[in-house]
Amino acid sequence: MAIPDSFLEELNARTDIVDVVSGYVSLTKKGNRYWGLCPFHSEKTPSFSVSPDRQMCYCFGCHKGGGAIHFIMEVENVSFPDAVNILAQRAGLQVPETRGNPDNRKRRERLYQLNKDAARWYHQNLLESAHRSALNYFTNRGLSRRTITNFGLGYALDQWDGLIREMTQRGYEKAELLDAGLAIKTDKGRIYDRFRNRVMFPIIDLRGNVIGFGGRVLDDSTPKYLNSPDTIIFNKSKNLFALNLARKSKRGMLILTEGYMDTIALHQAGFDCAIASLGTSLTEEHARMIAQRTGQVVISYDSDSAGVNAAQRAIGLLNKTGVSVKVLKVTGAKDPDEFIKKYGPDAFQKLIERSESHIEFRLLQVKGKYDLKQDDQRVACIQEMAETIAALPGPAEREVYGGRMAKDLGISPDTMLHEIEQCRRRNYRKEQRQRERRALQPVQQHQPEDRRLRYDNMRSGKAEEGVIRLLLGDASLFAQTGELSPEDFTVPLYGRVFGQLRQRWNDQRSTDLNAMGQELTGEEMNLLVSILQHPVSQTNREQAMADYIKTIQTEALKGKRAGTVDDSALMAFRKQKHREETT
Ligand code: CTP
Ligand code: MN
Repeated sequence: MAIPDSFLEELNARTDIVDVVSGYVSLTKKGNRYWGLCPFHSEKTPSFSVSPDRQMCYCFGCHKGGGAIHFIMEVENVSFPDAVNILAQRAGLQVPETRGNPDNRKRRERLYQLNKDAARWYHQNLLESAHRSALNYFTNRGLSRRTITNFGLGYALDQWDGLIREMTQRGYEKAELLDAGLAIKTDKGRIYDRFRNRVMFPIIDLRGNVIGFGGRVLDDSTPKYLNSPDTIIFNKSKNLFALNLARKSKRGMLILTEGYMDTIALHQAGFDCAIASLGTSLTEEHARMIAQRTGQVVISYDSDSAGVNAAQRAIGLLNKTGVSVKVLKVTGAKDPDEFIKKYGPDAFQKLIERSESHIEFRLLQVKGKYDLKQDDQRVACIQEMAETIAALPGPAEREVYGGRMAKDLGISPDTMLHEIEQCRRRNYRKEQRQRERRALQPVQQHQPEDRRLRYDNMRSGKAEEGVIRLLLGDASLFAQTGELSPEDFTVPLYGRVFGQLRQRWNDQRSTDLNAMGQELTGEEMNLLVSILQHPVSQTNREQAMADYIKTIQTEALKGKRAGTVDDSALMAFRKQKHREETT
């Protein structure tokens, strides 16, 4: 089952983690590391670092880290073998066949191929004269042949098993069609095509794989859209329609729409930076994906109340990532697609230019909630506005919007600003209390739940950590560890890693952390990478190693391996660790 070491070494040698991470995070070099916004948690200032020397990445905020393989596992949400496969493809290497479990990798590859074949077949159908009505549907909606090709649009025949017959003839199993979400099985075991008599929108990921489909009826019947279900290769909350195209745009922004047709119409009109979520509301992951690729997002949702609500939700999620958010108001049409058709691209460009900052958008929403003719409602409105404005970080912003809203509501700017200041003081006190609470448990958040990773004996634990850190940095130090036994360790993970590393050293295999990847869980990898972040003195490493070993052995002799956590020591350790990490 395991992938041979020699292959992993070759793969690691041919893979540059900076390159790999750059595909997901925009990085800036500072000192001997690269920095960017962490893809694993929401943040506004970069705490995600990539070290080309070590070929490791690590986030000082959420404490995730690892080599290129673990990075891919985490960011693509795939298993170790799948991550290896992705990187191998990138490096032009062939992963050697492994015995046993015909793993997910093969299955996934088959599904990608099946989806691609299905997309081609749907596309062919669309262009066949026998199915004129489907092509007419798109042309009537104003799509050019070029757009149809560009998006690989297609047509699913009006038959129960058109796709199933075609694909099984080509050697695919019915089970694979079910796995891909292209076919459905009834309770009685009958299998039929999921998409029938629908125009088809293939969904393509950033690596160019067809991962799923949306299908629309040609008339007013329901459901209007059908989408592929989530499968082993398709996750709606981690993919965005047309991002594969929009990422190449030179417009320096992304336009977020609600629908396939909106996005396609915008592309056709020259707004090649349009994207859409996939029949689901925007997720935190979507927001992060967007923020990683652009500094400016323009939300362009439908003009109905559902669209306005969805926009407010999206603003909240996008704001957390630090991307600049504007909201475009589609007027005189229900959605961007209809707008473009009615008024043309230039008018849409004007809408973009006139789009409101998300602040104005939200303030207008607040205002709309109250009947300002009634005094009590006006007061409530002023208060809610003050709260909204108080959350703005810049004093100039607060003054500008505060002044404008005061005028709108018929009060003096001073009164408004006073209200805002009061909110800010209240918020500050609340945050202060939260900070204090958090300070009492500084490393709590990233201290793994797994008890195996906690230090029961602080002295020994620190020394064991030191041993591992030194060994991972300098394999020559293994020569000193003859007397030390994995059983002397109090932290089971360190004991195990020490045993494995020394075995590798004995066998003259690589003792690099990256090479050990498949023997570690993601959580274990995070912990090991986190201890590597502490600087190792370049001098006296032998002496340091000798001291650590002595400490471990003394503690082991004392037999003081208490089964319980020593709270005060643990607290001291966490404080120490926190200090080290924040310096
Ligand atoms: N959607 C869906 N299932 C539905 C209706 C909508 O998954 N039954 C999703 C689709 O991704 C669709 C998006 O929600 O693109 C927006 O819906 P809507 O505004 O109704 O669709 P439009 O893209 O405007 O479609 P059209 O213009 O073709 O009517
Ligand atoms: Mn529409």
